[in-house]
Amino acid sequence: MKDLTNLEVTVHSNSTLSLYNTAIADLCRFKNPVPTTIEMLEAEPDFVMGQVFNGHINLWTTDRDDLQWCLESLKAIATIDASGLTPRERMHVSALQTWAKGDLVGASRQLDEILIEYPMDIMALLSGHQLDFFLGDALNLRGRVCRVLPDWDKQHPLYGFLLGMLSFGLEEAGHYERAEHVAMEAVQINPQDIWGIHAVAHALEMQNKYVQGASFMQAYEKHWQNDNVMVSHNAIHQGLFLLETGDLGKAVEVYDNFVHWENIEPIPMALVDASSVLWRLYLEDEELGNRAKTLTDSWKQKSDQQFYAFNDAHAMIAFAADNDHDAARTLLSDLKDYALFGDKTTTNHSMSLQTGLPVCEAIYSFTQGDYHTTIAKLLPIKNTTAQFGGSHAQRDIFDRTLLEAAIRAGRKPLARALVNERLMARPNSPYNAKKLDQVLSLAS
Ligand SMILES: [Fe+2]
Repeated sequence: MKDLTNLEVTVHSNSTLSLYNTAIADLCRFKNPVPTTIEMLEAEPDFVMGQVFNGHINLWTTDRDDLQWCLESLKAIATIDASGLTPRERMHVSALQTWAKGDLVGASRQLDEILIEYPMDIMALLSGHQLDFFLGDALNLRGRVCRVLPDWDKQHPLYGFLLGMLSFGLEEAGHYERAEHVAMEAVQINPQDIWGIHAVAHALEMQNKYVQGASFMQAYEKHWQNDNVMVSHNAIHQGLFLLETGDLGKAVEVYDNFVHWENIEPIPMALVDASSVLWRLYLEDEELGNRAKTLTDSWKQKSDQQFYAFNDAHAMIAFAADNDHDAARTLLSDLKDYALFGDKTTTNHSMSLQTGLPVCEAIYSFTQGDYHTTIAKLLPIKNTTAQFGGSHAQRDIFDRTLLEAAIRAGRKPLARALVNERLMARPNSPYNAKKLDQVLSLAS
Protein backbone atom coordinates (compact mmCIF):
# COMPACT_ATOMS: atom_id res chain seq x y z
CA MET A 1 0.00 0.00 0.00
CA LYS A 2 1.03 3.62 -0.45
CA ASP A 3 1.10 6.34 2.22
CA LEU A 4 -0.01 9.96 1.81
CA THR A 5 3.18 10.81 -0.06
CA ASN A 6 2.77 7.85 -2.41
CA LEU A 7 5.58 5.82 -0.83
CA GLU A 8 5.25 2.07 -0.39
CA VAL A 9 4.57 0.94 3.20
CA THR A 10 4.24 -2.58 4.58
CA VAL A 11 0.89 -2.56 6.35
CA HIS A 12 -2.06 -4.93 6.50
CA SER A 13 -5.16 -2.77 6.61
CA ASN A 14 -6.38 0.43 5.05
CA SER A 15 -7.67 1.61 8.42
CA THR A 16 -4.19 1.36 9.99
CA LEU A 17 -2.69 3.18 7.03
CA SER A 18 -5.31 5.88 7.42
CA LEU A 19 -4.33 6.32 11.08
CA TYR A 20 -0.66 6.60 10.04
CA ASN A 21 -1.50 9.27 7.49
CA THR A 22 -3.49 11.16 10.12
CA ALA A 23 -0.60 10.92 12.62
CA ILE A 24 1.86 12.24 10.00
CA ALA A 25 -0.44 15.13 9.06
CA ASP A 26 -0.96 15.94 12.75
CA LEU A 27 2.78 16.00 13.37
CA CYS A 28 3.26 18.39 10.44
CA ARG A 29 1.18 20.94 12.30
CA PHE A 30 2.42 19.91 15.77
CA LYS A 31 -0.92 18.55 16.89
CA ASN A 32 -0.25 15.88 19.54
CA PRO A 33 -0.02 12.63 17.51
CA VAL A 34 0.15 10.29 20.54
CA PRO A 35 -3.55 9.24 20.76
CA THR A 36 -3.67 8.34 17.05
CA THR A 37 -0.32 6.56 17.33
CA ILE A 38 -1.53 4.40 20.21
CA GLU A 39 -4.67 3.48 18.27
CA MET A 40 -2.57 2.68 15.18
CA LEU A 41 -0.15 0.41 17.04
CA GLU A 42 -2.93 -1.37 18.93
CA ALA A 43 -4.50 -2.13 15.56
CA GLU A 44 -1.23 -3.39 14.01
CA PRO A 45 1.74 -3.87 16.36
CA ASP A 46 3.79 -5.23 13.45
CA PHE A 47 3.33 -2.10 11.30
CA VAL A 48 6.96 -1.12 11.00
CA MET A 49 6.55 2.51 9.92
CA GLY A 50 4.00 2.96 12.71
CA GLN A 51 6.59 1.74 15.20
CA VAL A 52 9.26 3.96 13.62
CA PHE A 53 6.89 6.91 13.92
CA ASN A 54 6.33 6.13 17.60
CA GLY A 55 10.09 5.88 18.14
CA HIS A 56 10.64 9.26 16.54
CA ILE A 57 7.99 11.19 18.43
CA ASN A 58 9.30 9.83 21.71
CA LEU A 59 12.80 11.04 20.87
CA TRP A 60 11.59 14.45 19.73
CA THR A 61 10.69 15.29 23.33
CA THR A 62 14.37 15.20 24.49
CA ASP A 63 13.04 13.60 27.68
CA ARG A 64 14.91 10.50 28.84
CA ASP A 65 11.66 9.26 30.42
CA ASP A 66 10.21 8.89 26.90
CA LEU A 67 13.13 6.83 25.60
CA GLN A 68 11.47 3.69 26.98
CA TRP A 69 8.60 4.08 24.48
CA CYS A 70 11.06 4.29 21.63
CA LEU A 71 12.83 1.17 22.92
CA GLU A 72 9.46 -0.62 23.11
CA SER A 73 8.96 0.16 19.44
CA LEU A 74 12.43 -1.13 18.58
CA LYS A 75 11.58 -4.34 20.48
CA ALA A 76 8.39 -4.71 18.46
CA ILE A 77 10.33 -4.07 15.25
CA ALA A 78 12.83 -6.79 16.18
CA THR A 79 10.01 -9.35 15.98
CA ILE A 80 9.11 -8.34 12.40
CA ASP A 81 10.59 -10.32 9.51
CA ALA A 82 12.94 -7.74 7.94
CA SER A 83 12.93 -9.59 4.60
CA GLY A 84 9.33 -8.51 4.14
CA LEU A 85 10.19 -4.81 4.50
CA THR A 86 11.04 -2.35 1.76
CA PRO A 87 14.61 -0.98 1.51
CA ARG A 88 13.31 2.41 2.73
CA GLU A 89 11.72 0.82 5.78
CA ARG A 90 14.95 -0.99 6.61
CA MET A 91 16.85 2.30 6.34
CA HIS A 92 14.35 3.84 8.76
CA VAL A 93 14.80 1.03 11.27
CA SER A 94 18.55 1.51 11.16
CA ALA A 95 18.26 5.30 11.61
CA LEU A 96 15.95 4.83 14.59
CA GLN A 97 18.37 2.37 16.21
CA THR A 98 21.18 4.91 15.75
CA TRP A 99 19.12 7.74 17.27
CA ALA A 100 17.98 5.60 20.21
CA LYS A 101 21.63 4.86 21.02
CA GLY A 102 22.18 8.60 21.38
CA ASP A 103 24.06 9.14 18.12
CA LEU A 104 22.12 12.16 16.89
CA VAL A 105 24.71 13.04 14.26
CA GLY A 106 24.60 9.53 12.80
CA ALA A 107 20.79 9.45 12.83
CA SER A 108 20.65 12.83 11.12
CA ARG A 109 22.97 11.57 8.38
CA GLN A 110 20.97 8.38 7.89
CA LEU A 111 17.73 10.33 7.54
CA ASP A 112 19.47 12.49 4.94
CA GLU A 113 20.44 9.33 3.05
CA ILE A 114 16.80 8.25 3.05
CA LEU A 115 15.76 11.65 1.70
CA ILE A 116 18.28 11.52 -1.13
CA GLU A 117 16.66 8.28 -2.32
CA TYR A 118 13.11 9.23 -1.31
CA PRO A 119 12.61 13.02 -1.31
CA MET A 120 8.93 12.56 -0.46
CA ASP A 121 9.71 10.80 2.82
CA ILE A 122 7.97 13.23 5.15
CA MET A 123 8.91 11.26 8.30
CA ALA A 124 12.62 11.48 7.45
CA LEU A 125 12.20 15.16 6.64
CA LEU A 126 10.28 16.11 9.78
CA SER A 127 12.60 14.21 12.11
CA GLY A 128 15.74 15.20 10.23
CA HIS A 129 14.65 18.82 10.58
CA GLN A 130 14.22 18.39 14.33
CA LEU A 131 17.61 16.70 14.59
CA ASP A 132 19.22 19.61 12.71
CA PHE A 133 17.62 21.86 15.32
CA PHE A 134 18.83 19.73 18.24
CA LEU A 135 22.31 19.74 16.73
CA GLY A 136 22.30 23.47 15.96
CA ASP A 137 23.10 22.58 12.35
CA ALA A 138 21.82 25.74 10.66
CA LEU A 139 23.14 24.87 7.22
CA ASN A 140 21.38 21.53 7.18
CA LEU A 141 18.20 23.04 8.60
CA ARG A 142 18.14 24.98 5.36
CA GLY A 143 19.84 22.43 3.07
CA ARG A 144 17.79 19.36 3.99
CA VAL A 145 14.52 21.02 2.93
CA CYS A 146 16.11 22.67 -0.12
CA ARG A 147 17.32 19.30 -1.40
CA VAL A 148 13.82 17.79 -1.50
CA LEU A 149 11.47 20.71 -2.10
CA PRO A 150 11.65 20.73 -5.94
CA ASP A 151 10.51 17.08 -5.95
CA TRP A 152 7.25 18.00 -4.21
CA ASP A 153 4.10 18.97 -6.09
CA LYS A 154 2.98 22.40 -4.89
CA GLN A 155 -0.58 21.07 -4.77
CA HIS A 156 0.32 18.32 -2.29
CA PRO A 157 -1.63 18.89 0.96
CA LEU A 158 1.62 18.83 2.99
CA TYR A 159 3.59 21.15 0.68
CA GLY A 160 2.94 24.27 2.74
CA PHE A 161 4.46 22.65 5.82
CA LEU A 162 7.72 22.25 3.93
CA LEU A 163 7.76 26.01 3.45
CA GLY A 164 7.48 26.45 7.22
CA MET A 165 10.52 24.19 7.63
CA LEU A 166 12.38 25.94 4.83
CA SER A 167 11.73 29.30 6.41
CA PHE A 168 13.12 28.25 9.78
CA GLY A 169 16.19 26.86 8.03
CA LEU A 170 16.65 30.07 6.07
CA GLU A 171 16.32 32.12 9.24
CA GLU A 172 18.82 30.06 11.24
CA ALA A 173 21.21 30.23 8.26
CA GLY A 174 20.95 34.03 8.31
CA HIS A 175 18.61 34.76 5.37
CA TYR A 176 16.11 36.75 7.39
CA GLU A 177 14.15 38.61 4.70
CA ARG A 178 13.73 35.54 2.54
CA ALA A 179 12.76 33.54 5.63
CA GLU A 180 10.04 36.08 6.43
CA HIS A 181 8.68 35.91 2.88
CA VAL A 182 8.63 32.08 2.79
CA ALA A 183 7.12 31.81 6.28
CA MET A 184 4.32 34.22 5.37
CA GLU A 185 3.60 32.06 2.32
CA ALA A 186 3.47 28.98 4.59
CA VAL A 187 0.92 30.48 7.00
CA GLN A 188 -1.16 31.82 4.12
CA ILE A 189 -1.43 28.25 2.78
CA ASN A 190 -2.11 26.80 6.26
CA PRO A 191 -2.99 29.38 8.93
CA GLN A 192 -2.79 26.55 11.47
CA ASP A 193 0.82 25.73 10.47
CA ILE A 194 2.33 26.03 13.94
CA TRP A 195 5.93 25.62 12.74
CA GLY A 196 5.25 28.19 10.00
CA ILE A 197 3.88 30.68 12.55
CA HIS A 198 6.97 30.00 14.62
CA ALA A 199 9.17 30.62 11.57
CA VAL A 200 7.49 34.01 11.00
CA ALA A 201 8.25 34.87 14.64
CA HIS A 202 11.91 33.92 14.24
CA ALA A 203 12.31 35.83 10.98
CA LEU A 204 10.80 38.97 12.53
CA GLU A 205 12.76 38.52 15.77
CA MET A 206 16.08 38.40 13.94
CA GLN A 207 15.23 41.54 11.97
CA ASN A 208 14.22 43.22 15.22
CA LYS A 209 10.72 43.87 13.83
CA TYR A 210 9.31 43.57 17.33
CA VAL A 211 6.21 45.76 16.86
CA GLN A 212 5.25 43.82 13.75
CA GLY A 213 6.09 40.58 15.56
CA ALA A 214 3.83 41.37 18.52
CA SER A 215 0.98 42.23 16.11
CA PHE A 216 1.52 39.08 14.07
CA MET A 217 1.51 36.83 17.12
CA GLN A 218 -1.62 38.53 18.38
CA ALA A 219 -3.34 38.14 15.00
CA TYR A 220 -2.45 34.42 14.94
CA GLU A 221 -3.29 33.76 18.61
CA LYS A 222 -6.31 31.65 17.79
CA HIS A 223 -4.06 29.34 15.80
CA TRP A 224 -0.90 29.03 17.92
CA GLN A 225 -2.88 28.77 21.15
CA ASN A 226 -5.08 25.99 19.80
CA ASP A 227 -4.56 22.23 19.97
CA ASN A 228 -0.80 21.85 19.51
CA VAL A 229 2.28 20.93 21.51
CA MET A 230 4.17 24.19 20.87
CA VAL A 231 1.92 26.65 22.69
CA SER A 232 4.53 27.54 25.32
CA HIS A 233 7.19 28.06 22.69
CA ASN A 234 5.18 30.37 20.48
CA ALA A 235 4.08 32.14 23.66
CA ILE A 236 7.67 32.97 24.55
CA HIS A 237 8.20 34.36 21.06
CA GLN A 238 5.25 36.66 21.66
CA GLY A 239 6.79 37.45 25.06
CA LEU A 240 10.13 38.41 23.48
CA PHE A 241 8.39 40.87 21.16
CA LEU A 242 6.43 42.31 24.07
CA LEU A 243 9.58 42.73 26.17
CA GLU A 244 11.22 44.69 23.36
CA THR A 245 8.16 46.93 23.08
CA GLY A 246 8.50 47.55 26.81
CA ASP A 247 5.24 45.84 27.74
CA LEU A 248 6.60 43.81 30.65
CA GLY A 249 3.16 43.34 32.20
CA LYS A 250 1.69 41.75 29.11
CA ALA A 251 4.80 39.59 28.62
CA VAL A 252 4.43 38.24 32.16
CA GLU A 253 0.71 37.67 31.57
CA VAL A 254 1.55 35.58 28.49
CA TYR A 255 4.09 33.63 30.57
CA ASP A 256 1.55 32.94 33.33
CA ASN A 257 -1.19 31.92 30.90
CA PHE A 258 0.72 29.85 28.36
CA VAL A 259 4.23 28.97 29.50
CA HIS A 260 4.45 27.73 33.07
CA TRP A 261 2.45 27.42 36.26
CA GLU A 262 2.35 25.37 39.44
CA ASN A 263 2.02 21.59 39.04
CA ILE A 264 2.11 21.73 35.25
CA GLU A 265 3.31 18.49 33.67
CA PRO A 266 7.13 18.85 33.48
CA ILE A 267 7.82 18.60 29.74
CA PRO A 268 11.49 19.56 29.21
CA MET A 269 10.93 21.54 26.00
CA ALA A 270 8.25 23.65 27.70
CA LEU A 271 10.42 24.09 30.81
CA VAL A 272 13.19 25.36 28.52
CA ASP A 273 10.75 28.00 27.27
CA ALA A 274 9.96 29.08 30.81
CA SER A 275 13.64 29.29 31.82
CA SER A 276 14.41 31.29 28.71
CA VAL A 277 11.96 34.05 29.64
CA LEU A 278 12.66 34.08 33.38
CA TRP A 279 16.41 34.40 32.85
CA ARG A 280 15.94 37.45 30.64
CA LEU A 281 13.89 39.02 33.45
CA TYR A 282 16.39 37.92 36.09
CA LEU A 283 19.27 39.53 34.20
CA GLU A 284 17.35 42.81 34.23
CA ASP A 285 16.57 42.51 37.96
CA GLU A 286 12.83 42.26 37.31
CA GLU A 287 10.59 40.91 40.05
CA LEU A 288 9.99 37.18 39.47
CA GLY A 289 7.58 36.53 42.34
CA ASN A 290 7.35 32.81 43.01
CA ARG A 291 7.83 31.91 39.32
CA ALA A 292 11.46 30.79 39.69
CA LYS A 293 10.52 28.55 42.63
CA THR A 294 7.62 27.02 40.70
CA LEU A 295 9.90 26.42 37.72
CA THR A 296 12.60 24.94 39.94
CA ASP A 297 10.07 22.46 41.34
CA SER A 298 9.26 21.36 37.77
CA TRP A 299 12.89 21.12 36.65
CA LYS A 300 13.86 19.04 39.70
CA GLN A 301 11.77 16.24 38.21
CA LYS A 302 13.95 16.18 35.08
CA SER A 303 17.33 17.68 35.94
CA ASP A 304 19.06 14.38 36.75
CA GLN A 305 18.60 13.06 33.20
CA GLN A 306 21.76 14.29 31.45
CA PHE A 307 20.02 13.38 28.19
CA TYR A 308 20.17 16.70 26.37
CA ALA A 309 22.70 19.31 27.49
CA PHE A 310 20.50 22.17 26.28
CA ASN A 311 17.90 21.07 28.85
CA ASP A 312 20.52 20.85 31.62
CA ALA A 313 21.54 24.46 30.98
CA HIS A 314 17.94 25.60 31.29
CA ALA A 315 17.44 23.60 34.49
CA MET A 316 20.49 25.42 35.88
CA ILE A 317 18.92 28.73 34.90
CA ALA A 318 15.82 27.96 36.96
CA PHE A 319 17.90 26.91 39.98
CA ALA A 320 20.09 29.98 39.63
CA ALA A 321 17.15 32.37 39.27
CA ASP A 322 15.55 30.74 42.31
CA ASN A 323 18.79 30.98 44.32
CA ASP A 324 18.45 27.25 45.01
CA HIS A 325 22.15 26.64 45.52
CA ASP A 326 21.71 23.02 46.60
CA ALA A 327 19.90 22.13 43.37
CA ALA A 328 22.45 24.09 41.32
CA ARG A 329 25.43 22.42 42.99
CA THR A 330 23.83 18.97 42.63
CA LEU A 331 23.32 19.56 38.92
CA LEU A 332 26.92 20.76 38.51
CA SER A 333 28.18 17.71 40.36
CA ASP A 334 25.99 15.40 38.20
CA LEU A 335 27.33 17.07 35.06
CA LYS A 336 30.94 16.64 36.19
CA ASP A 337 30.29 12.96 36.91
CA TYR A 338 28.62 12.63 33.53
CA ALA A 339 31.63 14.22 31.86
CA LEU A 340 33.85 11.57 33.45
CA PHE A 341 31.66 8.50 33.40
CA GLY A 342 28.86 9.17 30.88
CA ASP A 343 28.58 7.31 27.59
CA LYS A 344 31.21 8.98 25.43
CA THR A 345 29.74 7.54 22.23
CA THR A 346 26.65 9.71 22.51
CA THR A 347 26.26 13.09 20.87
CA ASN A 348 25.00 14.51 24.14
CA HIS A 349 28.26 13.69 25.89
CA SER A 350 30.27 15.94 23.58
CA MET A 351 27.56 18.60 23.76
CA SER A 352 27.73 18.55 27.52
CA LEU A 353 31.51 18.59 27.68
CA GLN A 354 32.03 21.35 25.11
CA THR A 355 29.03 23.57 25.83
CA GLY A 356 26.56 22.40 28.46
CA LEU A 357 28.93 22.19 31.41
CA PRO A 358 30.71 25.54 30.84
CA VAL A 359 27.35 27.24 30.32
CA CYS A 360 26.03 25.79 33.59
CA GLU A 361 29.20 26.87 35.42
CA ALA A 362 28.84 30.34 33.95
CA ILE A 363 25.21 30.66 35.02
CA TYR A 364 25.96 29.46 38.53
CA SER A 365 28.94 31.80 38.86
CA PHE A 366 26.76 34.69 37.77
CA THR A 367 24.35 34.11 40.66
CA GLN A 368 27.33 34.01 43.03
CA GLY A 369 28.38 37.44 41.83
CA ASP A 370 31.50 35.84 40.37
CA TYR A 371 31.23 37.64 37.04
CA HIS A 372 34.86 37.06 36.07
CA THR A 373 34.28 33.29 36.09
CA THR A 374 31.09 33.74 34.07
CA ILE A 375 33.14 35.63 31.48
CA ALA A 376 35.95 33.07 31.58
CA LYS A 377 33.47 30.25 30.94
CA LEU A 378 31.33 31.93 28.28
CA LEU A 379 33.76 33.99 26.25
CA PRO A 380 35.68 31.04 24.72
CA ILE A 381 32.45 29.34 23.59
CA LYS A 382 30.58 32.51 22.63
CA ASN A 383 30.48 31.67 18.91
CA THR A 384 30.04 27.92 19.24
CA THR A 385 27.07 27.48 21.58
CA ALA A 386 25.04 26.26 18.58
CA GLN A 387 26.87 22.99 19.19
CA PHE A 388 24.29 22.09 21.86
CA GLY A 389 21.34 23.07 19.73
CA GLY A 390 18.53 25.57 19.95
CA SER A 391 17.88 28.65 17.87
CA HIS A 392 19.61 32.03 17.67
CA ALA A 393 16.76 33.49 19.72
CA GLN A 394 17.10 30.82 22.41
CA ARG A 395 20.87 31.09 22.64
CA ASP A 396 20.71 34.86 22.93
CA ILE A 397 20.33 34.39 26.70
CA PHE A 398 23.94 33.23 26.88
CA ASP A 399 25.13 36.30 24.95
CA ARG A 400 23.07 38.48 27.29
CA THR A 401 24.58 36.72 30.32
CA LEU A 402 28.09 37.37 29.04
CA LEU A 403 27.34 41.03 28.34
CA GLU A 404 25.68 41.49 31.72
CA ALA A 405 28.63 39.83 33.47
CA ALA A 406 31.03 42.15 31.61
CA ILE A 407 28.99 45.19 32.69
CA ARG A 408 28.74 44.08 36.32
CA ALA A 409 32.44 43.18 36.44
CA GLY A 410 33.24 46.67 35.15
CA ARG A 411 35.02 45.23 32.11
CA LYS A 412 34.24 48.26 29.96
CA PRO A 413 36.24 47.41 26.78
CA LEU A 414 34.74 43.91 26.68
CA ALA A 415 31.23 45.15 27.44
CA ARG A 416 31.58 47.84 24.76
CA ALA A 417 32.78 45.26 22.21
CA LEU A 418 29.87 42.95 23.00
CA VAL A 419 27.28 45.69 22.83
CA ASN A 420 28.81 46.96 19.57
CA GLU A 421 28.31 43.53 18.08
CA ARG A 422 24.66 43.52 19.13
CA LEU A 423 24.05 47.02 17.82
CA MET A 424 25.48 46.18 14.41
CA ALA A 425 22.95 43.34 14.14
CA ARG A 426 20.01 45.26 15.67
CA PRO A 427 20.61 49.00 15.73
CA ASN A 428 17.06 49.87 16.82
CA SER A 429 16.70 47.39 19.69
CA PRO A 430 15.59 49.08 22.94
CA TYR A 431 17.40 46.38 24.92
CA ASN A 432 20.65 47.11 23.05
CA ALA A 433 20.19 50.85 23.55
CA LYS A 434 19.71 50.30 27.30
CA LYS A 435 22.87 48.19 27.47
CA LEU A 436 24.85 50.79 25.53
CA ASP A 437 23.85 53.43 28.07
CA GLN A 438 24.95 51.16 30.91
CA VAL A 439 28.26 50.43 29.21
CA LEU A 440 28.98 54.07 28.51
CA SER A 441 28.34 54.95 32.16
CA LEU A 442 31.00 52.48 33.35
CA ALA A 443 34.24 53.97 34.67
CA SER A 444 37.06 53.77 32.15
FE1 LIG B 1 11.71 29.38 18.48
